[in-house]
Amino acid sequence: MRRSFGKIGIICSALLLVGLVIGVWAQSQNLNLAAKEIVIKRGFTKEALSCIECHGKKMPGTMESWRTSRMAHAGISCIDCHKVEKSSPMASQCEGVKGTDTYISPMVSSKTCSRCHPQEVEQFLRSGHGKLASSAVCDPKRAGLIKLMYHYEGAAFMNKGKLDLSTGLTPEGQPAYVRASRAAGCQMCHGTQVELGPDNKPINETWPGGIGTRYPDGSIGTCTVCHTRHKFSIADARKPEACGACHLGPDHPDIEIYYESKHGQIFHAQSDEWKWDSPPDAWEPGDYTAPTCATCHMSGIGELATTHSVNDRLKWDLMHKKSVIRSGERGDGEKGDKLMRKVCANCHGKTHTDVQRKSLDNIVELYNKQWAGAVKMKKELADKGLLKKDPWKDGFQEMMYYLWHHTGRRARQGAAMNAPDYAHWHGTFQMFQVYKDIEDIYNYRMKNNKIEELSTVMSSAPY
Ligand code: HEC
Ligand code: HEC
Ligand code: HEC
Ligand code: HEC
Ligand code: HEC
Ligand code: HEC
Ligand code: HEC
Ligand code: HEC
Repeated sequence: MRRSFGKIGIICSALLLVGLVIGVWAQSQNLNLAAKEIVIKRGFTKEALSCIECHGKKMPGTMESWRTSRMAHAGISCIDCHKVEKSSPMASQCEGVKGTDTYISPMVSSKTCSRCHPQEVEQFLRSGHGKLASSAVCDPKRAGLIKLMYHYEGAAFMNKGKLDLSTGLTPEGQPAYVRASRAAGCQMCHGTQVELGPDNKPINETWPGGIGTRYPDGSIGTCTVCHTRHKFSIADARKPEACGACHLGPDHPDIEIYYESKHGQIFHAQSDEWKWDSPPDAWEPGDYTAPTCATCHMSGIGELATTHSVNDRLKWDLMHKKSVIRSGERGDGEKGDKLMRKVCANCHGKTHTDVQRKSLDNIVELYNKQWAGAVKMKKELADKGLLKKDPWKDGFQEMMYYLWHHTGRRARQGAAMNAPDYAHWHGTFQMFQVYKDIEDIYNYRMKNNKIEELSTVMSSAPY
């Protein structure tokens, strides 16, 4: 959606009111951007300048990125994002501000950004990228997941399986080992609850984290997963690589799916010539010749406005065990379907889009049927006491996991985003193979009334 610079004007006037002398882009000559050495003439308070000057020497890398950012040009500097009230649970002092009344924090949540970008933050927080993202990692109500990462992937090896699942601590109060898989894995994509030490600095490797990071002041969300610090670029966020850092791999290969699709083919062949830095909400076909992740899920296009809620344009829930039309905290699927079709309508006719949407519905139906079959078998086995207590030593339950979490997701997401190899060879083809194996194990157990000795799953590699 093309739009004037009205909102930016409002932001700038508000800032002028609080005494920061910032001009609009063209007038802002505070920085000599061509020179390697930053020349600052006016526009920053004395205190703001002190951070910039010292950090320019101590952290030249950070400075270089910030210097070229749009926000630097608009007069937003270190102090605007890193200064906190003395009373903040995150307040600390770097060596440059020790002994002064200024408190800072290395942690910066979406709450800081919301002072100037309230709408983006509101949309982001109601999407799956907000609270829902970290709930998968740190919500005690989801003990199954916490058990997976603390017990099976950690404690069972490092601490002989003994730990308190609610705290993640061993009886000896030794958490480090069992945190290994969370801190290096889940947390870097999903985010977790940041824990603080006595100096108000993060402890237990709970920071930095991914998209839904929960900060000690109760705020949620790390905006810089897409607008990487300290450039905070919208051009970068429009590129598929902004999403591919998390949306990849055997269980949600969205970047691979994209590269394989016709859209990805055009991206690889032509995107050197695309215009990436059109103003917010004014990035339209013509600037590009095929959509990226952002185009379909976030950017303004045609009559649609930009949204920071990636749930808004979705119909199905394609990640959980049974695919249903989205509702409640996961969005509004009926509405999402209509909005997504509006994206396609910018470049495709109705006939074309109807086919794509229908083939997604068909794959969802096929997957759901297989899943329902597996659920039925599992119930019968459970009734007869033919399931092992440890699901990861039980071939039936392991296979069922792969049916849903790997092969089934690939089929569904491959079909949704037009990648035939993922929809078929990594998707429906492997789905039926897994299903056949599940059936064999089920039949064996029912016939012999016993569980086979070893897990029948020797390697998860094919799935
Ligand atoms: C527009 C807001 C913004 C501005 C301006 C800004 N930062 Fe940051 N900074 C962030 C965010 C967001 C993070 C990531 C925090 C998180 O993950 O909790 C961050 C992280 C950091 C970190 C900690 C991470 C690390 O790599 O050690 C340092 C240090 C830092 N910034 C220094 C600076 C300096 C120096 C400046 C000025 C040149 C600056 N920042 C300007 C928002 C900002
Ligand atoms: C005289 C130099 C100097 C000044 C002035 C200064 N800093 Fe620092 N700051 C440092 C140094 C050096 C570090 C790195 C210390 C370390 O982590 O090794 C640092 C660290 C930081 C960090 C990261 C803290 C952490 O725990 O990782 C932030 C954020 C930060 N400074 C922000 C600011 C802000 C905002 C200002 C202005 C209000 C400022 N600094 C002023 C020298 C300075
Ligand atoms: C004190 C106000 C203020 C704060 C705090 C602030 N911003 Fe900004 N932001 C601005 C202004 C002003 C602009 C410039 C608008 C322009 O010139 O186009 C801007 C522009 C942006 C842009 C567009 C950049 C581009 O390439 O066009 C992004 C993205 C952005 N901010 C992200 C953030 C994030 C993320 C945070 C929090 C970590 C944040 N902002 C915090 C005021 C702020
Ligand atoms: C730092 C990691 C990270 C990045 C970067 C990221 N995502 Fe996500 N995304 C996630 C996680 C984690 C979830 C799952 C959230 C949950 O648990 O419900 C998710 C969920 C989603 C969903 C489903 C929404 C739902 O119901 O949860 C969509 C659509 C999505 N992301 C699109 C994108 C797009 C488009 C981009 C790039 C512009 C992107 N993501 C960048 C981590 C990321
Ligand atoms: C490489 C980044 C990455 C890592 C590492 C990762 N996830 Fe995810 N996770 C995602 C993305 C992206 C999605 C969204 C998937 C989709 O749409 O299909 C997701 C979805 C989920 C979901 C379904 C959404 C929900 O909230 O119900 C759960 C649960 C989940 N992840 C838990 C975990 C746990 C627990 C770990 C560590 C043991 C982990 N993830 C590791 C990126 C990651
Ligand atoms: C999943 C990736 C992603 C995350 C996370 C994200 N953004 Fe963005 N952001 C984008 C994209 C893509 C655009 C460009 C939209 C377009 O094409 O107009 C954008 C644009 C913006 C703009 C320019 C004005 C606008 O609304 O178009 C601002 C300001 C901004 N983001 C701030 C934020 C803030 C604040 C957060 C944290 C709450 C955040 N972003 C988190 C992807 C992201
Ligand atoms: C041509 C438009 C288009 C492009 C490009 C695109 N997507 Fe999608 N995406 C869709 C559609 C359509 C769906 C299924 C929507 C529905 O439920 O009806 C979808 C579904 C998803 C989901 C599944 C959410 C769930 O329910 O689990 C995620 C995650 C996702 N996309 C992320 C991405 C990422 C990351 C990229 C880029 C690497 C990308 N998409 C590129 C259109 C697109
Ligand atoms: C910015 C324009 C643009 C948007 C938006 C867009 N597409 Fe495309 N799409 C293209 C182009 C260009 C091709 C390549 C046509 C060719 O094969 O030469 C293409 C190809 C395809 C193909 C491959 C089959 C074919 O016709 O070659 C499918 C499937 C597809 N798009 C589906 C969608 C769906 C579904 C949406 C909306 C969710 C969508 N597209 C949105 C431009 C777009």
